[in-house]
Amino acid sequence: MTESTIELIDPTPEQRHQWQSLVDRIVEAQDEYYGRDAPTLSDAEYDQLMRDLIALEEALPGLRTPDSPTQRVGQAVRNEFPPVTHPERMLSLDNVFSESELMDWVARAQRTVADAGREVTRWLCELKIDGLACDLVYQDGRLVSGATRGDGRVGEDITPNVRAIKAIPQRLRGANVPPLVEVRGEVFFPVADFEGLNASLVEAGKAPFANARNAAAGSLRQKDPQVTASRPLSMICHGLGVHDGVDVTVQSGAYELMAGWGLPTSPYYKVVGTPAEIAEYVTWVGQHRHDPSILHELDGVVVKVDDLDDQAILGTTSRAPRWAIAYKFPPEEVNTELLDIKVGVGRTGRITPFAVMTPVRVAGSTVARATLHNAFEVKRKGVRIGDIVVLRKAGDVIPEVVGPVVELREGRETREFVMPTNCPVCGAELRPEKEDDKDIRCPNSEHCPAQATERLAALGARGALDIEALGYEAAAALTNPVEGTPVLSNEAGLFDLKAEDLAHVMVQRQNKDGETTLEPFFFTKGDGKKRSEPTATALQMLREIDVAKDRPLWRVLNALSIRHVGPVAARALAARFGSMDAIRAASVEELTQTDGVGAVIAQSLSEWFEVPWHANIVERWAAAGVRMAEDVAPVGEQPLAGLTLVVTGTLTGFSRDGATEAITSRGGKASSSVSKATSYVVVGENPGSKAAKAEEMGVPILDEAQFQALLDGGPDALAS
Ligand code: IVH
Repeated sequence: MTESTIELIDPTPEQRHQWQSLVDRIVEAQDEYYGRDAPTLSDAEYDQLMRDLIALEEALPGLRTPDSPTQRVGQAVRNEFPPVTHPERMLSLDNVFSESELMDWVARAQRTVADAGREVTRWLCELKIDGLACDLVYQDGRLVSGATRGDGRVGEDITPNVRAIKAIPQRLRGANVPPLVEVRGEVFFPVADFEGLNASLVEAGKAPFANARNAAAGSLRQKDPQVTASRPLSMICHGLGVHDGVDVTVQSGAYELMAGWGLPTSPYYKVVGTPAEIAEYVTWVGQHRHDPSILHELDGVVVKVDDLDDQAILGTTSRAPRWAIAYKFPPEEVNTELLDIKVGVGRTGRITPFAVMTPVRVAGSTVARATLHNAFEVKRKGVRIGDIVVLRKAGDVIPEVVGPVVELREGRETREFVMPTNCPVCGAELRPEKEDDKDIRCPNSEHCPAQATERLAALGARGALDIEALGYEAAAALTNPVEGTPVLSNEAGLFDLKAEDLAHVMVQRQNKDGETTLEPFFFTKGDGKKRSEPTATALQMLREIDVAKDRPLWRVLNALSIRHVGPVAARALAARFGSMDAIRAASVEELTQTDGVGAVIAQSLSEWFEVPWHANIVERWAAAGVRMAEDVAPVGEQPLAGLTLVVTGTLTGFSRDGATEAITSRGGKASSSVSKATSYVVVGENPGSKAAKAEEMGVPILDEAQFQALLDGGPDALAS
């Protein structure tokens, strides 16, 4: 569409006002981001404002001015550093936010190039580095200038600071170094070093950086280059500006040249031939963006038309090339308000502060809470209740409060978090177990209802006794009811529960008018006509509790909430000792002879049994018929002793857990990766790469029938 075909509709005063207010907010955000390295908007919020402005100007082109943020690159420079004019203008990138928008861009570029009688056959795909754009000028191979991007024409001269970055060579090497070359790239702060930097800033009483990109900007734009030198900044180059006497025909060729001169380039770029391969690259990056081998944060993928003649056909707009596009991933970092910091009581009494936030969507889910681990961590992050905080949820990782947006504190009421001195549930005085422990605990493990709830809920979990209907709410209703005495003061009586015990357990519920009412949890309401009776879920819970009595010994052991004794140690102990009595009778030294059981676990286990109310749990469970012994051969008669097995693919007669159990209960070790130490790899249907690896390494492979033979009779059975 050409200018002349656009029908210019006159904007109304309201639309002008809307445009101006969007521009003002964007310019202010740019000033904070580029000028002060202290943004108050998250990237996602900024992108949304830009998208709104682009849409408004597309609907009403009469609003667009040459100095609109949609027509400019970045921001005019401030005067803290001397201005420097870039030999060639530095452009920005246009963004797309979905794969279909990306494919539309690809199709448009293909059409434009086809109109000129050519065809795009090379697409250069690379990572979009979340750092700070930087321009380097080399004359006769010597670094003579380093500058920020600024408004694209004039940046800030930060040459002394750039010289302090180890990855940037002072001199280019090789025979084909041109007389003048301008190199563009991204300076970044390595992800792995970011947390450590913030911790040391807070310790020194300084404000932390909200993210690694700001840390890069703040570290690079330092008045004192020594500060820059003390930070582990690095750079990746992704383009050339002016280049005299450089012979390249494709963008990727420029990368090869730069790498040859000793400049840092990315190992992750890839030239592909088709749109489907571009989509594959995007998927790959989405799955690998948090791999530790990728040292920098990345917020998307950049796709470039590789051939420089095709680039020339496509040309540029005032702010960005038409031959490149940034595909931005959904945000993993957003800003939200920290409404409160509360504390939770864990099943072993550990007190954990957690953030309560205004719910926000981040990386595909809505988040309102995040653990803050302990009081030291709250201090280390420098967050205050009432702050606007940066919330991060990287991939499938648990949401994390990164830190406060310190610049937004002004005018907000914020207060420091104070760790309580008493348990919020039972009132017991909190204390660390050992003097230098970071965690503090509620010592009242026998009577604290919160701890009983947590233990009971953990006991019902899949990895323990697998009582599906005993979830957190049911556990809380049993151990910490709103009124009356709890049905269970701890887990000792769990297996003696009868339906009638549950009749009077009440919980608070909100009705549709928002009023709080008391209702039975395990029973139906009942009125004059209808009898109150156990709900189907309550009956299911009782049935499941009954079935759980016959779970393998390791699960019973795991269900006891003994500190440090997780499923791995529980399996090993059950396999070695064969019964709860034998484990209880074993000395610390004997316990430590079990594979995977160290002194800490052994000590904790031994101390646990010495506590009378703990011993009572085991006794009451045993009296109720809970399995307290493994029905496999004890130590010495274990056919798989000393063998390590890896199972890959689906077996018809075993679930994944079942196969592991079958191996460990016979004294073998179940591992998830194939190595020289692997004795056999059991291959089911649709095996993964482990089968191929086993073959490659010469590890014996068993099918399911051979696996069964091994379980029944040990390696000798295989030989026959
Ligand atoms: S090429 C003329 N490639 O993202 C094309 N830029 O949001 C200019 N960026 O201004 C840029 N990774 O500072 C290019 N692989 C990459 C990049 C990249 C990050 C930055 C660059 C650009 C900004 C736009």
